[in-house]
Amino acid sequence: MKEIDIHAISSQELYKYLTSSVTPRPIALVSTVDKDGINNLSPFSFFNVFSINPPILIFSPVNRLRNNTKKDTLNNVSQIKECVISLVNTKIAQQVSLASSNYSANEDEFKKAGFNKIKASLVKPCLIKEAPVNFECKVNNIISLGDNGGAGNLIICEVLKIHIDEGILDQDEQIDPLKLDIVSRLGANWYGKTNQDSIYKIVKPVSRIGIGFDNIPQEILSSEILSGSDLAMLASVDTIPNKKNTDSLSLKTEEKHTLAKKLLEKGKIIEAWEILI
Ligand SMILES: Cc1cc2nc3c(=O)[nH]c(=O)nc-3n(C[C@H](O)[C@H](O)[C@H](O)COP(=O)(O)O)c2cc1C
Repeated sequence: MKEIDIHAISSQELYKYLTSSVTPRPIALVSTVDKDGINNLSPFSFFNVFSINPPILIFSPVNRLRNNTKKDTLNNVSQIKECVISLVNTKIAQQVSLASSNYSANEDEFKKAGFNKIKASLVKPCLIKEAPVNFECKVNNIISLGDNGGAGNLIICEVLKIHIDEGILDQDEQIDPLKLDIVSRLGANWYGKTNQDSIYKIVKPVSRIGIGFDNIPQEILSSEILSGSDLAMLASVDTIPNKKNTDSLSLKTEEKHTLAKKLLEKGKIIEAWEILI
């Protein structure tokens, strides 16, 4: 493993390692106003949901690395403690990138980036018409993480109202990840898309406690064919099934493991065990 002494590299290099490794990150497109009512719109990928009840979202404008100045969004939420946080899909990703340009504080970034405003019901900042989801928020707290360029400022936002484009809902009124079409931020200029090829399901064994890796027989555990993911599926059963698949008794170990791997690819965990034992 390459070891990196964080004190031996520049802040710019540190920024690259952190933002290229901690990926993918969701993107908050944050709408704020200053005390004179000028609208600001900026994207932040240091962002996530941290609490359900109360519903809390946090994003973090960092002090500019270049000159250690504060971003307009931070100045705005310090004056007017409200914001609208919107989510970013592929349709608006290019406009969102444009909104990250360093426009001066008195310019309306909705106009600059070609977004339309909708009046929010409970807060002064506007909703973004083109965004698939808008959260109206009050800012409960701002926590500064330091005085240096690059230091984050956690903007702790409590969601007051959620607006969801009905076009992203499935027949059960739940958000469909493919219709949401969310874009994520990776390192450098890389972004991620959410499509059929980039997402898959891991069915959680909610009703049982898996036996764990330590209860898998050594011969299976040391397989050169079964991967960590395959073993994790095998370890998720609550007991090892004892019914043997008699057809597999004549098979060599490698053949059994290859067959079990194919069954696991189809989610057939019990059938895989029956081949293996
Ligand atoms: C997709 C994307 C994500 C970004 N995430 C952050 C972030 O999490 N924190 C940050 O300080 N800047 C981030 N930036 C840069 C800010 O958007 C940029 O500095 C912007 O000019 C700040 O605007 P403001 O001064 O109007 O608040 C991001 C830029 C892009 C394009």
